[in-house]
Amino acid sequence: MILVLIGYMASGKSSLGKKLAEKLDYEFVDLDDFIENKENASVSNIFKNKGEIYFRKQETLYLKELLQTKTNIILSVGGGTPCYAKNMQLILNADNVKSIYLKASIPNLVDKLIKKKSKRPLIAHIKTKDELTEFIGKHLFERVQYYNQAEIQIITDNKTKKEIVEDIVLELF
Ligand code: S3P
Repeated sequence: MILVLIGYMASGKSSLGKKLAEKLDYEFVDLDDFIENKENASVSNIFKNKGEIYFRKQETLYLKELLQTKTNIILSVGGGTPCYAKNMQLILNADNVKSIYLKASIPNLVDKLIKKKSKRPLIAHIKTKDELTEFIGKHLFERVQYYNQAEIQIITDNKTKKEIVEDIVLELF
């Protein structure tokens, strides 16, 4: 079984994915880390040196590879992964895969991302909280049509990590 966690940047895909993996005794795999290992470069450097189009091509390539995994894994993908190429279709059509959208509100995402934007090439240049709020509002509006295709949707606002993991497990089994 492959459980794919999707959602906007900073929606908790990696941290919740690790907790969920521990609870279910699954292996945790982060697509960005996988790309960085395979490409021997950070996501920021791939964007800087090879451009976003190259990054998106490699992202689809490695997503396809990971969707072939035959063991139990939690796969956390990038915020943009479901929104490019036919990635969301690949996720939905793959065997033994369940997709989970971690749904966070804009203010919540802004609060988290304002502290963690430097490693994220799409928002690293944004200076103020107001600009970031406007950017995320528009960006999420474009992306939500992909995220909403996930089979399971979990609202994360005002919940502890433990509660979110429990909610996911309840939806799954
Ligand atoms: C991206 C999200 C990032 C990473 C890249 C692009 C996006 O992953 O894949 O910077 O397009 O939203 P996280 O969602 O883990 O930050």
